[in-house]
Amino acid sequence: MIRVAPSLLAADFSRLADEIQDVKQAGADWLHYDVMDGCFVPNISMGIPVLQSIRKCTDMFLDAHLMIVQPIRYVRQFCDAGADLVNVHVEADDETEIKKALLTIRNCDKLCGITLKPKTGWEAVLPYLNMIDLILVMTVEPGFGGQHFMSEQMKKVETLRRIIDESGFDIRLEVDGGVDRETASICIDAGADVLVAGSAVFRMDDRKTAVSQIRGIR
Ligand code: DX5
Ligand code: ZN
Repeated sequence: MIRVAPSLLAADFSRLADEIQDVKQAGADWLHYDVMDGCFVPNISMGIPVLQSIRKCTDMFLDAHLMIVQPIRYVRQFCDAGADLVNVHVEADDETEIKKALLTIRNCDKLCGITLKPKTGWEAVLPYLNMIDLILVMTVEPGFGGQHFMSEQMKKVETLRRIIDESGFDIRLEVDGGVDRETASICIDAGADVLVAGSAVFRMDDRKTAVSQIRGIR
């Protein structure tokens, strides 16, 4: 099953509740929530209070993507604020601390994921395979919406698809960055099953068509 997850970073922040309602009606499956700390990435976005407010106005599945250093410091708060799934970057701390963060998310009864920057090899997932629900492959350098899709990341997606299938674990494979109706089909062919799209959904007048086309329905 292919899931489409519009990234709220591209929404109109002055009308968040309406924007969320609109993409839900357009058929979006998840809502992707980008958290940036100005340190792990050179940008600052939204944090815990905004997530709490969003949780009150929607029942959509909330996929939090933490682009922050030492995520163990905050994962519990993001779970308590209403995230359904919390993604941490493998590059954001050492292996012991990342494992602690994943266990903390699990203990909050939420799904957990690990995220790889473009320059990080697929091997980085191996220590975590038996403790995650999702792997997120970045198809742009994290930090900003509206960037150009890096098609060279598809080799990593293909390899991870094979590793997930061989492992027998129930792990979703998500891509994020520069995904639009054209690049989405490349991602699906490579084995991705969750497609994050910011600009390609929120910047379109006809979001229903945008979501359907990203999903692969022409
Ligand atoms: C980038 C974020 C992405 C971003 C995607 O750091 O993680 O989720 O919002 O935006 P588009 O789809 O416009 O590339
Ligand atoms: Zn993201």
